[in-house]
Amino acid sequence: MTDASSHGPHSSGDRSSFGFRDVDAREKVKMVRGVFDSVASSYDVMNDLMSVGVHRLWKDAAAAKLNPRPGETILDVAGGTGDMARRYSKMARAAQERRGGEDASVIVLDYNAEMILAGVHKGGEPEMSWSVGDAMALPLPDASVDAYSISFGIRNVAHIDKALAEARRVLKPGGRFLCLEFSRPTTGPIRAAYDAWSFHAIPRIGGWVAKDRDSYQYLVESIRRFPDQAAFKALIEDAGFKRVSVTNLSGGIAAIHHGWAI
Ligand SMILES: C[S@@+](CC[C@H](N)C(=O)[O-])C[C@H]1O[C@@H](n2cnc3c(N)ncnc32)[C@H](O)[C@@H]1O
Repeated sequence: MTDASSHGPHSSGDRSSFGFRDVDAREKVKMVRGVFDSVASSYDVMNDLMSVGVHRLWKDAAAAKLNPRPGETILDVAGGTGDMARRYSKMARAAQERRGGEDASVIVLDYNAEMILAGVHKGGEPEMSWSVGDAMALPLPDASVDAYSISFGIRNVAHIDKALAEARRVLKPGGRFLCLEFSRPTTGPIRAAYDAWSFHAIPRIGGWVAKDRDSYQYLVESIRRFPDQAAFKALIEDAGFKRVSVTNLSGGIAAIHHGWAI
C-alpha cells in the first residue's frame, strides 16, 4: 500500500485537484460536471468495458456490506444512474418478504441531471426516488437517514471533508456510512498491471466508445490523486465516524470504507 503520508489532502482552501492538475475548487465543480454531462449516455457501457464487468461484483459486495433493511431510509449520494439504489431496493424487499416490516425508501441523489435522467430511463424500483442535489450541501434534515452510501463518487467532490460532514449530519444515531471507491493496489504486480490498463487502455476505450478521451483521462488521473485506504479512513474518522473498517476489493484496486454514526 502506498504510504498515507505521501498523499496530501485532496483539497485545501479554494484549491482542489482535477485529475493531475490543481484547479480552483469552483472550477473543479464545473469541470467534473462537464465530464459527467459528456459521459452520461455511455456511462454504464463504459463501466463494464473499463472494469471488464468487475464493478458489478464490487457493487454487490458493497450492497451486502450496507445490509439494507425493511423500513429504512437509505441515501445513495452521487448515485448516478442508480446502480447501488437498485441493489438496495431489491435487498430490502427480499428481507421484507422474509420477515415483514415496512417498505424501505431509497433516495438516489446526484448533482448531474443528465446522469439522473439516464438512470430514470434505465428504470427504477418501487422503493426508489430520484433527486438532484450536491453531496456538499445535502437537501435533507439532520438525522434523517439510516444509511448513507457513495459509490465511485467522493473522489469527484471538490471538498471531501464537506461531503463527509454532510454524511454525518444527515445520518441518525447508529446510522451506517459506506463508501465504495477506487483505491491503491496492495501489491507491486497488481499495481503494474492496473497502471498499464488504466493509463493506456481506458482513455483509448473512452475515445472509441464515449468519443471522449479527455474525460476518461480525467477519471484515471482522479483515481491516482485520491487518498489511499489509510488516509481516507483517517478523513472518515476526522468527520466523527466510529469503528471505521476497510475492505479491499480485487487486491485494493477498489475498497469499501464502512463506519458508524454513533
Ligand atoms: C463515477 S459516477 C458514479 C455513479 C454511481 N454511484 C455508480 O457507482 O455507478 C460519479 C457521479 O458523481 C456525481 N457527482 C460528482 N460530484 C458530485 C457532488 N458534489 N454531488 C453529487 N453528485 C456528484 C457525478 O454527477 C456522477 O454521477
